[in-house]
Amino acid sequence: MSGFTYQSGVLHADAVPLTAIADAVGTPTYVYSGGLIRETYRGFANAFAGRDALVCYAVKANSNLAVLGLLGREGAGADCVSIGEVKRAVAAGIAPNKIVFAGVAKSATEIAAALEIGILQFNVESVPELERISAIAAARGQLAEIAIRVNPDVDAGTHAKITTGKKGNKFGIDLDQAAGVYAHAATLPGIRAAAVAMHIGSQITTVEPFEAALTRLVALAQELIAAGHPVSRIDCGGGVGIPYRGEAPIDLPAYAAMVKRVTAGFAGTLMFEPGRYLVGNAGALVSRVEYVKQGSDRRFYILDAGMNDLIRPAMYEAWHDIIPVRQTADAPAPVDVVGPICESSCIFAKDRPMPPLVDGDLIAILSAGAYSAAMASSYNTRALPAEVLVEGDRYAVIKARRSLEDLFADESPTPAFAPLGS
Ligand code: LLP
Repeated sequence: MSGFTYQSGVLHADAVPLTAIADAVGTPTYVYSGGLIRETYRGFANAFAGRDALVCYAVKANSNLAVLGLLGREGAGADCVSIGEVKRAVAAGIAPNKIVFAGVAKSATEIAAALEIGILQFNVESVPELERISAIAAARGQLAEIAIRVNPDVDAGTHAKITTGKKGNKFGIDLDQAAGVYAHAATLPGIRAAAVAMHIGSQITTVEPFEAALTRLVALAQELIAAGHPVSRIDCGGGVGIPYRGEAPIDLPAYAAMVKRVTAGFAGTLMFEPGRYLVGNAGALVSRVEYVKQGSDRRFYILDAGMNDLIRPAMYEAWHDIIPVRQTADAPAPVDVVGPICESSCIFAKDRPMPPLVDGDLIAILSAGAYSAAMASSYNTRALPAEVLVEGDRYAVIKARRSLEDLFADESPTPAFAPLGS
């Protein structure tokens, strides 16, 4: 059994009890189900069987090398938004010719490094970026394959902070400018415009916004091909959502059927950049209740995990299910589940019905495989959470908890000042 399930009254990741991990590794700790990541990846990739398709996992969702390695061995490429992510993907064994480099602010150093590594494609977000890539590639005597990331002006119906495909977003090039930019690209040295790309937002739970955007993108691709541009790949982006609260998941077969239908007249490669979908439900943050505090009108479960470890509730008002590691039949009552950080936004749930717990009990914050460990910080001088990957009945620590001294080892109370120009 893969994923998080109660077995003999104890929450397990695959076949490993979370109590055993918490005892051995401490808390807070992110735990990932290798089985579920693999199963989910295969489900996604197989949905496009029969088409030439490349799934480039969005590294930003969870960039741990062990997660990248697992997905890479399944055949995934990588969608990266910094040269750091590109280097992680390569370090995890993902072939450079399966790596896409996106992002609105690629520096000259990053572009040169990506050309050196020999990535598949730059997803270009502006004309000045296109010209910069052209100049750097031409100077190096290389041909950079690019996609223009098109902003199809579609409302993804998701949280304002993670919608990216509406006119007025900083992302991509407006659809009405795209043909002109491809024509410009064709005149530039060092550039081969091999693809078109889009990404309209994240945590999208219906097929319609994808269909509206992809229809526009495919029409553009056909127009470009007719005009003689060497477009042989359509990058459909990421954004496929997951259930956080027991909602019905997006209908993946319907999504895949739509993509195949809308792209039926296109013979080239389809690319995808799923992040959250592949790893989101496959992770949990395991934390211990430090204190149960009874206020005059509410009860608090104060955890050893804080908003620095998992920022999604504070940043996006995101819901994460929170369940006890030891199953209980006791009746739930509303509590606030909070963390230690000195901000009132360090709260995971308000008035959430939870079973009675006592100091020292373990809880699991679910659906924390994506944008969770990857967004953690050491705010309040707290060590980053440890990370553990489970495979069947075995587990591995894939990110060790660092000592607190490590956090400030490269700082000094008496810095050595240097004169300018030295
Ligand atoms: N491709 C591009 C160009 C992206 O910007 C993103 C995510 C993805 C792919 C992957 O999207 P996904 O399949 O994971 O939805 N921190 C936020 C999510 C930010 C998403 C940013 N871009 C959160 O915690 O909800």
